[in-house]
Amino acid sequence: MTASGARSMLPTLTPEETTHSARLAGLIGEHITAAGGWLSFEHFMELALYAPGLGYYSAGSHKIGVGGDFVTAPEASDLFSQCLARQCAEVLRGCRHGEILELGAGTGRMAAALLGALAQADALPERYAILEVSADLAARQRERLMQLPVAPRSRVTWLTRLPERPIEGVILANEVADALPCRRFLLAGGTVRELGVARAADGGFGEAHVAADAAYSRLCLELCESWPQPYPQTYTSEVCPRLEPWIGALAASLERGTLLFIDYGLPRAQYYHPQRTHGTLRCHFRQRVHDDPYINVGVQDISAWVDFTRVAEAATAADLTVAGFATQAAFLLATGIESLVARAPAGTAQARLAGEARRLLMPGEMGEAFKVMALTRAWDAPLQGFTVQDLRHSL
Ligand SMILES: C[S@@+](CC[C@H](N)C(=O)[O-])C[C@H]1O[C@@H](n2cnc3c(N)ncnc32)[C@H](O)[C@@H]1O
Repeated sequence: MTASGARSMLPTLTPEETTHSARLAGLIGEHITAAGGWLSFEHFMELALYAPGLGYYSAGSHKIGVGGDFVTAPEASDLFSQCLARQCAEVLRGCRHGEILELGAGTGRMAAALLGALAQADALPERYAILEVSADLAARQRERLMQLPVAPRSRVTWLTRLPERPIEGVILANEVADALPCRRFLLAGGTVRELGVARAADGGFGEAHVAADAAYSRLCLELCESWPQPYPQTYTSEVCPRLEPWIGALAASLERGTLLFIDYGLPRAQYYHPQRTHGTLRCHFRQRVHDDPYINVGVQDISAWVDFTRVAEAATAADLTVAGFATQAAFLLATGIESLVARAPAGTAQARLAGEARRLLMPGEMGEAFKVMALTRAWDAPLQGFTVQDLRHSL
């Protein structure tokens, strides 16, 4: 979809959103000028999402949930968190001082439902720590989690950086890796160009590309080296170089237990498939999905799918074991989503839960596009969530 195409199908901004977006656009414009007229997409995405006080995640828009820009699995149904709780309980029971660390906890709905289910199963962690980069979302998490009964509430704490002492237990990240700023590339006629942004004639932003440096060029060409000839005429995709240091830092925070990543994503061969000529970048604004990151800056989400092969490589380099990789549907079936629906009172409540389960499980909804990956350290026991499907061969 072209820039103007995306704009015409989107709801118009409120006056407050227009003012906010213009302020952030002004800041991004200053960065473009300071950089000599061209800014890498990675730098642009960093500012658009995280510029202090102005970026999408740093400022106060509604963002997540039915009244926001997009709905994540824990917002769609607590069944998701209740299944995740069963996986967490299995690991916590095998730890002496089991803790949970959740990264990017959004509105806190997943934490609330997870803690509720763990309390019921008598498997509460010693501590439930949240590391959240958005002050606005952290405030919403506090408001929600302070309403929990005292036993779960007293274990919740917020961190400003990763714990100095590695934990025993579970590190969770649902839809966080897809929010890490990524680089973009354009492959045209066998050469690699790096995509970024420049000022457009109308005063907005426009996509612009420059010659890729040698290392980035080599990296991008390696991603496509197994393609059959001829290459597509033009091909655009994303690479997330921040995954490696991020996973390295998370690995250093885990002494024993598992890291669970849940996100939109694919193994590398499918991610960089020659027919996926326009990459995986997606923008969300008031429940509409489009692919123009240069409009509505600061009031729309920008994300890119996760290359799970890259996650697995980074994990292996950090001495973690890739212990499981499955679709979200397979993970939820293995952790008993059907039994959670079946035990609800027959009638309206059960019908509602059945509808929610379908949304989490169906291939055309969240069931297949989302994957779950478990990375473990000092953990040999099988993990319940990966007993129905093992897709590690595809990585
Ligand atoms: C798409 S939202 C997902 C929220 C929540 N996990 C859910 O599933 O509803 C991304 C979340 O990650 C947070 N975030 C982004 N980058 C982060 C990082 N490097 N560390 C921790 N949180 C981060 C955002 O502020 C936001 O809370």
